[in-house]
Amino acid sequence: MLKVIKFVKNLSYILIIIKRVISLEMKSFLFKEIKYYEKIDSTNLEAKRILNKGCSNNNFVVVAKTQTSGIGRFNRKWVSEKGGLWFSLVFPDTDFNSTITIFSSIILHKTILNYFSEAPVAIKWPNDIFWNDKKLAGILSVKSENATIIGLGVNINQKRLPEDLMNTATSVYIETKITMNLKNTLKTFLYFFEKNITEYINEDIMSFRQYYKNYDYLYGKKISISLSEKNFIGQAAGISKRGELMVIIDNEKKYFISADKIDIIG
Ligand code: BTN
Repeated sequence: MLKVIKFVKNLSYILIIIKRVISLEMKSFLFKEIKYYEKIDSTNLEAKRILNKGCSNNNFVVVAKTQTSGIGRFNRKWVSEKGGLWFSLVFPDTDFNSTITIFSSIILHKTILNYFSEAPVAIKWPNDIFWNDKKLAGILSVKSENATIIGLGVNINQKRLPEDLMNTATSVYIETKITMNLKNTLKTFLYFFEKNITEYINEDIMSFRQYYKNYDYLYGKKISISLSEKNFIGQAAGISKRGELMVIIDNEKKYFISADKIDIIG
């Protein structure tokens, strides 16, 4: 009996591995090419240069081991040392809704959970992934030459981060002491992206709201929102059907389409 249980257990492990390998080896219909770079200024900038040359009508991915001028939101410097996953998804002649950033956050979140099913990772509206209370990843979506570029930066194998980031940011390695295969992680992300994109195109963020709700970093928390030099304080109440952040301010529900900064204050 014990032998049978052991056999079934082993078989299910083998099936999981086969499933993963098949998903990783599957040809992508969505992304025709992955362009790998050892070192580049920024994958978002390289994507723009390629689009400017007009040499690609197909969707493609730009990925680099290090970025010398990684760009974060509001043109901030994005530290991109070796060990992180720095990449841009490029969709020529495609004008996605702004909710594509939330969709990409959800896909990135699914990717992390695929490897660490119990990880305390959550999505901070609209473009961050947090591991407990530290930032693990950020997303910067931009429009250029009729194209949409979605840049994703994920701290993965870095053993340390620069001193000034240590209190606010983290990496998968710092949290788990596990080193991940970056190529496979990227392929898993692309697999989940491709698997869900039709639903997103048809339904927008609607059908992902429940997933989002389950992993909403801000939900129920007292937050301060800075927007165009104004400051709002209220309680986060999830996202709307259109992907706006809903906040209860003085007993009234307010909807935010964007924000410069969001802090948890209670
Ligand atoms: C943020 O500020 O949270 C967004 C950070 C986005 C960083 C990524 S890394 C890959 C891509 N290339 C860039 O220069 N920036 C994005």
